Amino acid sequence: MIRRPRRLRVNSITRDLVRETRLDMKSLVYPLFIVEGEKIKNEIKSMPGVYHFSIDMLDGEIEDIIKHGIQNIMIFGVTHDKDACASSGFAEDGIVQRAVRKIKSLGKSLNVITDVCMCEYTDHGHCGILDETGYVDNDKSLAVLAKIALSHAQAGADMVAPSDMMDGRVGAIRKILDEHGFVNVGIMAYSAKFASNFYGPFRDAADSAPAFGDRKTYQMDPANFREAMLECAYDIEEGADMVMVKPALSYLDVIKGARERFDVPIVAYNVSGEYSMIKFAISQGLLNEEVMYEAVMSIKRAGADIIITYFAKDLAKYIGRY
Ligand code: PBG
Repeated sequence: MIRRPRRLRVNSITRDLVRETRLDMKSLVYPLFIVEGEKIKNEIKSMPGVYHFSIDMLDGEIEDIIKHGIQNIMIFGVTHDKDACASSGFAEDGIVQRAVRKIKSLGKSLNVITDVCMCEYTDHGHCGILDETGYVDNDKSLAVLAKIALSHAQAGADMVAPSDMMDGRVGAIRKILDEHGFVNVGIMAYSAKFASNFYGPFRDAADSAPAFGDRKTYQMDPANFREAMLECAYDIEEGADMVMVKPALSYLDVIKGARERFDVPIVAYNVSGEYSMIKFAISQGLLNEEVMYEAVMSIKRAGADIIITYFAKDLAKYIGRY
């Protein structure tokens, strides 16, 4: 007897019926880059279809985001106001704090997540405080990261997402949030964040490239799976509500491993380089645009519950149609 798996592929209704994995707009997070200035909506050269927005332009953009069915956004601040210890990162009138207040004032049902890091605010571009030798001092950085997270919560963020990779930062952030009564502000921890070259376009967009050296003393070695599991376990122990694997497409095994081992939601960050490679290939006519759907689907199939992706708006068209 011939086995006939093609029987379940005969038409689109049957294919829809037997589909094992589905993408859902409700589990996507759309990143937004906010800049100083007015009337700015500038396309980011290294990331076609992604824009820098000034705060006054957010009304229209938030409207558009909601129209696409997106319910979660992640805010990144871009500023020229930089110093050695990232003071503009925790200023009450900092770029992220103002953006969050503005978005929240619109009264939409939108979950606002903020990236908590120092690299956008330090003049040296590293994700923590440097010691005399140029090494990122872990424990000195914790206090600053905690202050940044608290200032985001005070501005109205629903959830904070530390992306610095310092040891102990989740615990430090949980503690300061709780002490100030923000018990319901969640922590989405960038737990298994690899020292990846796929962040290249983002660093252009966020003006956050390190002025010297690289991030290998704090972000993870791309070769290490087991260490990634340890990072997730430590973050959960410290109070992370969800853990993240980043990047996503070259790390699907790590996503799968985290999904199998841990019972918190697993987040995957489909990063800028992964986005831009595909976008440029599509614009060259080399690939059909449906590859976006296929790429993000692979992240979901690997086990990600939540996907942060610059493709979110593009995918709205496919989700529902597929
Ligand atoms: C900040 C941060 C980075 C990204 C998210 N938060 C860059 C980095 O670690 O250098 C990368 C996101 C992307 O590439 O899309 N630390």
